[in-house]
Amino acid sequence: MFSESLKYITSKTSSRPTIGIILGSGLGDFGSLVKNPIVIPTKEIPNYPVSTVPGHSGKLIFGTIENNGKQSSQLLVFQGRIHFYETNSLPHVIFPIEIASALGIKTLIVTNAAGGINSRFKSGDLMLIRDFINLTFENPLIGRSIKASERITNYFSDELMVQAKNTANELKVPIQEGVYCWTKGPSYETSAEIKMMEKLGIDAVGMSTVPEIITAVHLGMKVLGISCITNMATGISSYKLSHDEVTVTANLVKNDFTKLISAVVVSL
Ligand code: HPA
Repeated sequence: MFSESLKYITSKTSSRPTIGIILGSGLGDFGSLVKNPIVIPTKEIPNYPVSTVPGHSGKLIFGTIENNGKQSSQLLVFQGRIHFYETNSLPHVIFPIEIASALGIKTLIVTNAAGGINSRFKSGDLMLIRDFINLTFENPLIGRSIKASERITNYFSDELMVQAKNTANELKVPIQEGVYCWTKGPSYETSAEIKMMEKLGIDAVGMSTVPEIITAVHLGMKVLGISCITNMATGISSYKLSHDEVTVTANLVKNDFTKLISAVVVSL
């Protein structure tokens, strides 16, 4: 099943990327920076799970980008992702990560849209994911035979975090740092849940990213996570949350987001 997908992808491109980028809700525009792209719509790939969420167009984009006259390494940009709530299947959610690993990707930048909980945050902020709390209690590695020495203890690359922070400072792109919480969705959180999360030291909440990070680290990749705070979480803002707000804010932030990711990617 997996091998058929991989065979199809490798028949379309001889590119062997080393950096993967997963674009979250509304952040897909970064894909248009790729020069001479080879684009594979995920619906053409045998067995590739298809995303149904607006703002997740479902394309694999191979190529490089240029920033300030510098060329990046070969990239694979995933425009859109599959959320656990879409199919109730973690193998679907982590399918792109396994493809990335099989193609030789060593560094993964994972992005998402998230609700801000930290009161110092505001809608439109970018947040480096320093750590996460998994409130789904699901783990994509369950069922695999994992040696004791393979248990993950450290998910985030300090080196990539420092690189991203320095780059943001150089570009004067404001950047926050914090703890991301994964919930199953698809409903948004209640205000009681958000109050609980605040007490737990959670800075932002969303419905993705953590299973991808767990799998990527397990498969030996270095990971950088970036959340776009598209809204303040339920009860923190006084108005009703909507997916439209998520995509509208992501759209407003996309310049800073694109600037930051481009500069980080060419520096790797
Ligand atoms: N909650 C959960 N997921 C989200 C949110 C939120 O407030 N905003 C964007 N994704």
